[in-house]
Amino acid sequence: MMTIRAVSAWTLISLFSGSLALAADSFTPARVPLLPPAPTTIPDGPLGDAIRYGQRIVTDTAGTAKAYVGNALRCASCHLDGGRAAYAAPLAGLTGLFPEYRSRRGSVESLEDRINDCFLRSMNGKALPAQSREMIGLLAYIAWLSRGVPTGSEVEGRGFREIHAPGPADASRGKTIYLAKCAACHGGDGQGVKGDPGKYVFPPLWGSQSFNVGAGMARLSVAAAFVQMKMPLGNAGTLSDQEAYDVAAYFTMQPRPDFGGKTNDWPKGDRPADAR
Ligand code: HEC
Ligand code: HEC
Repeated sequence: MMTIRAVSAWTLISLFSGSLALAADSFTPARVPLLPPAPTTIPDGPLGDAIRYGQRIVTDTAGTAKAYVGNALRCASCHLDGGRAAYAAPLAGLTGLFPEYRSRRGSVESLEDRINDCFLRSMNGKALPAQSREMIGLLAYIAWLSRGVPTGSEVEGRGFREIHAPGPADASRGKTIYLAKCAACHGGDGQGVKGDPGKYVFPPLWGSQSFNVGAGMARLSVAAAFVQMKMPLGNAGTLSDQEAYDVAAYFTMQPRPDFGGKTNDWPKGDRPADAR
């Protein structure tokens, strides 16, 4: 996806090399290495406290922001390693990129809006008030993770690594893969596994406690990209692109909460084929 954007920006710039406006519209961020600071380097003092609070929200979302969480997931269920992992939508490097145009919304979105998209969809919950302690903590944590990334630059490994299956995705083959390679952790019924005291050790992939149909992870291409790169945890990279698509076709289409706001998504008519 990034490569496609880079090519089109280059094409526009070379076709209209006199037009600054066009070049700016098709702005392509420079890429820099993903090098988030170590957790031990969070500073002392009030700013450090806010950063640590934001980090706790990412790793224990229900324990810190319960009123806004509607399922058993935590931010780090998908933003692995507390938002430091490449190709698991790292949170590092975002501070200097937002506000950003997003086609799902059809408008320019702030980082607060983007965080709340995940509260509403991935967490099936409620939006954080802009001035809440929770939102300030998340912004402080993301800003700290983004230290050293120049404004307007994008880290390598932002988002997910897009993959393409050689053939159509097959959910019944996917079920066989699920039972063999995923069920041991996520449960035969996809409901995850609870440890004590009631906290999930392995998060649910479907059902009332998982992400809703409006979430990015509910899209076949996004789920396949995440799974091929990051799952099965501990054995990541062992599924072929086809297997990742097959298993994603199986678990994304299992029952999960609806998302009322989905009818307003992609208002400009560029709705992706796998949007729900
Ligand atoms: C079910 C998985 C899932 C959970 C849980 C989740 N997210 Fe996300 N998040 C995603 C996906 C998928 C994207 C889209 C990445 C992309 O655009 O390529 C995303 C994108 C983001 C982005 C923008 C990333 C970028 O590169 O622009 C932010 C910020 C974010 N999430 C914050 C959060 C926060 C904070 C939480 C917890 C409250 C959370 N997310 C929980 C899946 C999840
Ligand atoms: C060894 C245990 C293990 C195996 C096997 C495993 N996962 Fe996961 N998976 C996890 C854990 C743990 C997380 C959450 C990471 C965190 O919270 O730090 C996760 C997160 C996820 C998520 C995002 C969160 C959610 O609940 O939606 C998806 C999707 C996912 N796994 C799919 C799969 C698929 C598909 C397979 C099989 C190909 C698989 N996993 C195999 C342990 C596992």
